[in-house]
Amino acid sequence: MAQPAHISIIMDGNGRWATQRGLPRAAGHREGVRALRAIVEHCVRVGVGTLSVFAFSSENWNRPRDEVGLLLDLFVSALNDQVEALHAHGVRLRFIGNLGAFPESLQQTLLDAERRTGANSTLLLAVAANYGGRWDLVQACRSLARQVQCGALRPEHVDEQMLGAQLTLAGVPPPDLFIRTGGEQRISNYLLWDLAYSELYFNDVPWPEFTPAHLDRALEWYARRERRFGGLANVQDFPGGD
Ligand code: IPE
Ligand code: IPE
Ligand code: MG
Repeated sequence: MAQPAHISIIMDGNGRWATQRGLPRAAGHREGVRALRAIVEHCVRVGVGTLSVFAFSSENWNRPRDEVGLLLDLFVSALNDQVEALHAHGVRLRFIGNLGAFPESLQQTLLDAERRTGANSTLLLAVAANYGGRWDLVQACRSLARQVQCGALRPEHVDEQMLGAQLTLAGVPPPDLFIRTGGEQRISNYLLWDLAYSELYFNDVPWPEFTPAHLDRALEWYARRERRFGGLANVQDFPGGD
């Protein structure tokens, strides 16, 4: 069965899951962390190379201050609780996004986690935090513009590879399978460049209820996709094809 090398997930629906149960939204976010732990373990088990997840978008600052504060606190405590276990499973952590906007102490926690797990190679877990796809493209353009300005690069030499190399996921093969839970069918400014040819899988399950069995279903769906990348996969099916 064809398996994705890179799975990317928008973990959505935490708040609605909690509200439907008469619980504070915070309870949904806490359950969301638990759901992620099980999915990471499952990815290690089935041998996926990269899992990237959207933890906090550049637009999530628009939420009430209390919720933003809670999300950041939860992020720190989940990391403090989980880094050693992730390390023991051979997981390498990488954080992508405009991290400089976070409090100094959080930035340090992220750096420490990246350093601690930097030599691992079983699963790359890329966590998008204060991430926006448009921001990513802008910072990549800025970096190329600086090279042009100092004379190291000619504008006509800028190509897709060069731009891709400046993006925060540089060096990581793009997602093969994209999953969004929670019922919405949109990208919400996630990996705009990298999702160009990903297979898009949406389901209504709120993230706190998304289990390894749901992931297996997505993997089965993925295995049935015919990825053509603009070409023709079954040329022999057409009259005149060889
Ligand atoms: C996703 O769940 C988690 C984050 C955005 C941090 P939501 O908080 O968006 O949950 P819903 O979409 O309101 O249910
Ligand atoms: C996307 O979900 C961001 C994360 C899951 C971190 P949102 O819940 O913020 O997206 P919208 O607002 O419904 O588009
Ligand atoms: Mg949401």
